[in-house]
Amino acid sequence: MNNTLELLLNHTSIRSFTNQPLTEGQRDEIFKVANQTSSFSLLQAVSIIRITDKELRKKIMQLSANQPYIEDAAEFWIFCADFNRNHQIAPKIDLEYIEYLLIGSFDAGIMAQNALTAAESMGLGGVYIGGIRLNITELTEILNLPKHVVPLVGLCIGHPAGEKPELKPRLPQSMVMFDNQYQPLDEEKLRTYDEQMREYYRNRPSNAPFTVKKVNGWTDHIEDHLERSRLPFMLEYLNKQGFAQK
Ligand SMILES: Cc1cc2nc3c(=O)[nH]c(=O)nc-3n(C[C@H](O)[C@H](O)[C@H](O)COP(=O)(O)O)c2cc1C
Repeated sequence: MNNTLELLLNHTSIRSFTNQPLTEGQRDEIFKVANQTSSFSLLQAVSIIRITDKELRKKIMQLSANQPYIEDAAEFWIFCADFNRNHQIAPKIDLEYIEYLLIGSFDAGIMAQNALTAAESMGLGGVYIGGIRLNITELTEILNLPKHVVPLVGLCIGHPAGEKPELKPRLPQSMVMFDNQYQPLDEEKLRTYDEQMREYYRNRPSNAPFTVKKVNGWTDHIEDHLERSRLPFMLEYLNKQGFAQK
């Protein structure tokens, strides 16, 4: 197996960091890799806000369900879909179509993943923070984000502290990848996966995502996760930022 495959197959989120900072060289390399990511029609509709101010970091942690690693990580970067740049270049284009938000969200996601992979390749670790969207209006204000910019996900990066967490099992290939046509849910395979996850969380409760309150299987908390992820204010917020009107 080559080094890239080995790295990717050994991914686990890291939520515990030493206080060692990244070198400027490490930071620059992670940024360069992120910035070289594919971009829809080369629109380059992503900006990263790097949070270096301690007080601001604390405030963002509080707005993001008090996840402590936001403060502990050496680096905390917020990936934003950003059409403000494009809008200034082409002010006549109507950006209210939801497709623009899809474009920016996808570009931000793959850029963040390349940043995380680059960090992991240097022996660093990290975790995404979708929790930054829990109080997105306030976050938008404190980051001074203009219209046509939406913060989508945070990324903690740092030197891992303690043991590397065990790999978190994923759904089997036959439930995720289909030949030619979509396939119905296979209940039996789901039960097998569920048991695998129950076993995993039984041994490693600290690896549960921050929304998982009980150590249980996968299907047990899907409903809970979906419920918590709803964010009913989101459409109004996106409209205010100039997106998703049509
Ligand atoms: C978009 C996105 C947002 C996430 N947000 C959070 C978060 O706010 N807090 C957290 O602890 N983990 C967060 N995670 C990490 C996931 O919980 C984690 O990737 C998942 O449980 C699988 O674990 P693994 O990455 O260790 O394999 C997020 C992951 C993604 C892709």
